[in-house]
Amino acid sequence: MSKSYQKWIEQKLEKLQAVDCYSAGLTPETVAKQLGVDLSQIVKLNFNENLFVDRSRQAELIKEVAGEIDLRMYPEDEEVKLREKLTGYMGVPKEYLTIGNAGDELIDRIIRIFIEKGEAAVSFTPSFAIPRLCVKRQEGEYITVPLKSDFQLDVEGMLSEFSDKTRLLYLCSPNNPTANQMSPQDIEALVKAFPGIVILDEAYGEFADYSFVPRIREFPNMIILRTFSKAFGLAMLRLGYSVSNPQLAKTLTEKSPLPYPVSGFTIRMGIKMLQNMDIMRTAVSALKAERGKFIKALNEIEGVQAFDSQADFLLINTQKPADEVYEKLLQQGIMLKKWGRILQYENCFRVTVGLPEMNAKLIEALKEI
Ligand SMILES: Cc1ncc(COP(=O)(O)O)c(C=O)c1O
Repeated sequence: MSKSYQKWIEQKLEKLQAVDCYSAGLTPETVAKQLGVDLSQIVKLNFNENLFVDRSRQAELIKEVAGEIDLRMYPEDEEVKLREKLTGYMGVPKEYLTIGNAGDELIDRIIRIFIEKGEAAVSFTPSFAIPRLCVKRQEGEYITVPLKSDFQLDVEGMLSEFSDKTRLLYLCSPNNPTANQMSPQDIEALVKAFPGIVILDEAYGEFADYSFVPRIREFPNMIILRTFSKAFGLAMLRLGYSVSNPQLAKTLTEKSPLPYPVSGFTIRMGIKMLQNMDIMRTAVSALKAERGKFIKALNEIEGVQAFDSQADFLLINTQKPADEVYEKLLQQGIMLKKWGRILQYENCFRVTVGLPEMNAKLIEALKEI
């Protein structure tokens, strides 16, 4: 091995070590093993997954897709077929749509295209972590402005960060982890004033009160992200899409350097779910009904505050220290996403709206704690 190679690879690996990457933390398998219990005993409420989607109906669709596709072929027309099918759901022509390997990959793709070294992105905090990691990877700057105490946007604060080097504005609504939707007037004011590309992340759009998709023509610099991971319950397959003006949509589609970023099987499952919309609609309305009851029950527990939600998860704040609550819940096989301090709230957790029996276990455990 030459000396120059040795030096280069050491420096390269050292630099890569310093790059911040996503870490999912404990898996349910690990927790089950540590507790010495069966995996089915674990109450997994940490990833905003939608368990209200009928798994047996999905299994039927998987069989249908398996019988229809020929896995030996490349997925040449699949992406166009999904865009055509989505036009009915989103109410926009297919030229406005881009298909991606779920929301995360679309965020990554947009940031690779639009952020160069030394440029900056603006967002707010707390919010979804992936855009920051992608901007940092591009050696860009990620500027955040805290939300106001009611979890709404500090419009003035954000406007004051717009400059010649800010190329991207990332807005998440409903926001992960606060679960609220931002005021449409505030979003509009920011998008109109921003001198660059805006990502409006509506990953939880189906659980919310309103969407900006019907107004996409008013905002030529805005890319709205949507996903099949949440309302449609296809998180494992990795399928998402964006809605934007046709010029941006074409760029996003054509400038993915990979010819087939999404598997044909995955795309066909997306199409099947759109042909069977009752599965998603039934799941979303059941989840929303449970969400209301869950928030009410959590708020009845002394020392627990649960906030309103327009997503498939909610934010809670506990009087007891977050570390202590987290550990005690984990000992009972209950997994939440620990956030700790958020604005004026010291001990926050993000909690998936699970099935009623899962939520009941959390409520009992929190009462005891
Ligand atoms: C706000 C937000 N955007 C995007 C995503 C990415 O979802 P996916 O990559 O599964 O589409 C998530 C996932 O939790 C999210 O919370």
